[in-house]
Amino acid sequence: MMRVLVIGNGGREHALAWKLSASPQVERVFVAPGNAGTSLEPGVENLPIAADDTDGLIHAAQTHSVDLTVVGPEAPLVDGIVDRFEEAGLACFGPRAGPAQLEGSKSFTKAFLDRHAIPTAAWQAFTDPDAAREYIEGHDLPLVLKADGLAAGKGVIIATNHKEALAAVDQILVDQRFGRAGQRLVIEEFLEGEEISFICVASGTEVVALATSQDHKAREAGDRGPNTGGMGAYSPAPRVDAKLHQRIMDEVIHPTVQGLVKEGMPYLGFLYAGLMIDHRGNPKVLEYNCRFGDPETQPILMRMQSDLAALCQAALSGRLARFEIDWDARFALGVVMVADGYPGDYPRGDKIRGLDQVRSDAVKVFHAGTRSEAGEVVTDGGRVLCVTALGETVGAAQRTAYSAVGEIDWKGADWRPDIGWRALND
Ligand code: AMP
Ligand code: GLY
Repeated sequence: MMRVLVIGNGGREHALAWKLSASPQVERVFVAPGNAGTSLEPGVENLPIAADDTDGLIHAAQTHSVDLTVVGPEAPLVDGIVDRFEEAGLACFGPRAGPAQLEGSKSFTKAFLDRHAIPTAAWQAFTDPDAAREYIEGHDLPLVLKADGLAAGKGVIIATNHKEALAAVDQILVDQRFGRAGQRLVIEEFLEGEEISFICVASGTEVVALATSQDHKAREAGDRGPNTGGMGAYSPAPRVDAKLHQRIMDEVIHPTVQGLVKEGMPYLGFLYAGLMIDHRGNPKVLEYNCRFGDPETQPILMRMQSDLAALCQAALSGRLARFEIDWDARFALGVVMVADGYPGDYPRGDKIRGLDQVRSDAVKVFHAGTRSEAGEVVTDGGRVLCVTALGETVGAAQRTAYSAVGEIDWKGADWRPDIGWRALND
């Protein structure tokens, strides 16, 4: 029997812990630091250790005889947590710092994509503001300006006129608004089309695609308003038909994992490609993430019928190619309930009511920004819950999810009313 440690405290980590604890091979799951949802999950226990406290996490893995660690968020991966666990002789599912640069440095990724002829927007990197300004003057708008490093999804500015583009250069390179992440600026061509997420498990040159999914990053209905970490997601994404799936594997995913192996940094872990599909159906890479998506994890794992612990172990021991993942044929759709003010400032500590009212087997309420306080569950973040439901159709999953959302309440609770709208129209 295995003991597993999940690192992180979001909805993704609740879903990972929930699914790992369902494995017949797993006797106990620890989550560091976890949230109220993981603490209430049978067979799951929270450990009060922050996701960036690598020494503390290694110590906990040793003390609790952990056999497998699964890392949720990008920051510890980019900082090299997997290298540190390996040095301590501990099995850790996630990429080492080398390949995690795919998320940690946009200029690294763009140069890598060019070296391996993987389609992406034309680009250039700058450290000198004057050179960046000169480039902007010589190019048509819109242009996309990105802080090179990790900026929690906030370091991307789409400039529709020269004034905005020049202001973005000042924000990123001169005022250093994104700190160290903004020491370098990437300016790239604006791509039009439909954005999709494509998530795989990779182990060297072996790679298996997970079920397709689509998230909704914009805060408001109709995909308007400010960008967020994700207001909801569903799986499968009907937009990704068999032909597009094959093209993405052939033109993007295989060349990426093979390129990393050739460059001496084989990838192990979840690999998430953010792609733009143009009107002719050509995929281009917008970004890579070195981890599972949040909230995509929630609907994807709700559909996964295979054993996630066995999948991680197959990847770690080079047996991924023969691993077949079984999926529930139904749709899964997750609605993120957020605190008032998100993605700006929001209050914490509001008591959540109605969690017990949700009793359907087709619904799972994954917690994100929650904590337990005197036996009650209170809000503790911007994205608070992801209410996820299965249904025979997108519409059925959507109805079930929203009916469960209607049972839950706290002061200022809010959500998008239209998660899944594109799939309903497809
Ligand atoms: P990134 O973190 O690089 O994925 O950028 C965040 C978001 O900005 C993406 O999810 C896209 O919606 C948008 N974006 C990034 N790069 C481009 C581009 N070259 N063209 C159009 N939109 C982009
Ligand atoms: N849902 C977007 C992300 O995880 O980056």
